[in-house]
Amino acid sequence: MLTGENLFQQKIDQEIKIEARDWMPEEYRKTLIRQISQHAHSEIVGMLPEGNWISRAPNLRRKLILLAKVQDEAGHGLYLYSAAETLGITRDEMIDQLHTGKAKYSSIFNYPTLTWADIGAIGWLVDGAAIMNQVMLCRTSYGPYARAMVKICKEESFHQRQGYESLLALSKGSPEQKQMLQDAVDRWWWPSMMMFGPSDAESTNSEKSMLWKIKRQSNDELRQRFVDATVDQARILGVTLPDPDLKWNEERGHFDFGTINWDEFWNVVKGNGPCNKQRLKARVDAHEKGQWVRDAAMAYAEKRKKKVA
Ligand SMILES: [Fe+2]
Ligand SMILES: [Fe+2]
Repeated sequence: MLTGENLFQQKIDQEIKIEARDWMPEEYRKTLIRQISQHAHSEIVGMLPEGNWISRAPNLRRKLILLAKVQDEAGHGLYLYSAAETLGITRDEMIDQLHTGKAKYSSIFNYPTLTWADIGAIGWLVDGAAIMNQVMLCRTSYGPYARAMVKICKEESFHQRQGYESLLALSKGSPEQKQMLQDAVDRWWWPSMMMFGPSDAESTNSEKSMLWKIKRQSNDELRQRFVDATVDQARILGVTLPDPDLKWNEERGHFDFGTINWDEFWNVVKGNGPCNKQRLKARVDAHEKGQWVRDAAMAYAEKRKKKVA
């Protein structure tokens, strides 16, 4: 009879999901806790750059859409924290790791949202890049994570659409609006390309993640897929993607693209991006200001417990 690691790998190979109570290698558990909590933090911190524009949306329709989207991101964060908790870490521990800088979140959210067009660009490019990664994760080997991703993906495709649709409106607008659109694309293109993480040759966690089917496609494969899907959409918007090396490669059947500035990427990861400090401070302040809500909830729970007893 197979036990331990062999049984675990056999389940993975047969596409049987690993569940919370199943035996799993410690490294699998640790990798998932890191990945899922990082993903949850990204959803929550990701609310900040867009929340910045809720009060300045150009009309009621756009405001409603943006409100709904930002609320969706909060929901994504909550499903993902719950999924990570099934692996034996508490919500408090995860929040603490975020607030002390021990845990990372997606670097893209350390860039500022300077104009209304940035909100559209985030939906189109940032949610668009996230979808590439997340569709793959619907089939990840850990059951609670995979199931959370199915619902998240449905909402992410709405996010991508709403972003594209709002940019389409700008693309038909005044010269100033077209300029604002191009400027947002110029600023968000490369950071979106970086969202897939380091190239396969540099990526340290990838090999085991593929064997354990946590990931099923490599960073470079997903990045290529994103480029291939986005070029035509840019053409319809009438914008130029800021990469002179971007061109169709007949032989490969894919678009070639230029070199990513990895120094910029690592610099932002290390905490030196334009908004790292501001984002973290906003999260810590929100947590501290919410202390009375947690206290009140605890007091209420205590009171009920006494009544029942
Ligand atoms: Fe999300
Ligand atoms: Fe989203």
